Amino acid sequence: DRMSIELLDLARAVALEAGHLARRRRAEGVRIAASKSTLADIVTEADREVEALIRERLAAERPGDGFLGEESDATTGTTGITWVVDPIDGTVNYASGMPSYGVSIAAVREGEALAGVVRAPALGETFVAARGEGSFVEADGARESLRVSSEHPAGALIATGFGYDPATHAGDIATVQAVMPIARDVRRIGAASIDLSYVAAGRLDAYFERGLKPWDVAAGALIVAEAGGAVLTLSADGFGREMTVAAHPDLARKIADRVEAE
Ligand code: IPD
Repeated sequence: DRMSIELLDLARAVALEAGHLARRRRAEGVRIAASKSTLADIVTEADREVEALIRERLAAERPGDGFLGEESDATTGTTGITWVVDPIDGTVNYASGMPSYGVSIAAVREGEALAGVVRAPALGETFVAARGEGSFVEADGARESLRVSSEHPAGALIATGFGYDPATHAGDIATVQAVMPIARDVRRIGAASIDLSYVAAGRLDAYFERGLKPWDVAAGALIVAEAGGAVLTLSADGFGREMTVAAHPDLARKIADRVEAE
């Protein structure tokens, strides 16, 4: 509807500006500001700066909205809309000079995303969705509609991610092994928002990961759903981590069955 499209237009403009800043800072050299919990769980000065920019731009246009970001304190707001933001999803890629990182911005109302943008500045692509309006990839001034893949005669290309806590790694690897029999191959791209966008685009057939945070998935899950995909949440493992599975609904169910049978 009109409202979702307006929210998307704002999110897209802010994500493009934020992506530009992230890229510029990357070119100047990246400093890791802190290790948050473990070796892999890092934040760069750019994550904080980019989040501050996004927060400021959104507040200037829509001062009554709430905000939930990876790197700063949450606010509730008065409009019922909350912006759920990962300023740089794929921080390890970003810090290492790998191009697969994204700015992820979603507008959420009562737990339901109305608009979502994943901007991958170093890849030159913007993945967008507004509720009920489909999902698209925008690049070089062109815009293409997205659809999840459906046929997997020779096995699916499946992406996953690993938790930050080393204690969880054995379980994550066991899950990969349980899914391998229906996979053509497995990827670990390193940015949940990009994995989800690629599922929407049919580049990946599926993506699963345990322990994702709202800002990792809010925008990408809407982009998958609007491309005809399912995003399932499976019950928590022994570390309290729920699993997200995104794919064509039939394939998502197949993966869920294998994970649940483990
Ligand atoms: C992380 C990335 C990574 C995934 C982690 C996320 P961050 O986000 O999306 O691929 O495995 O679960 O937390 O910390 O780089 O914003």
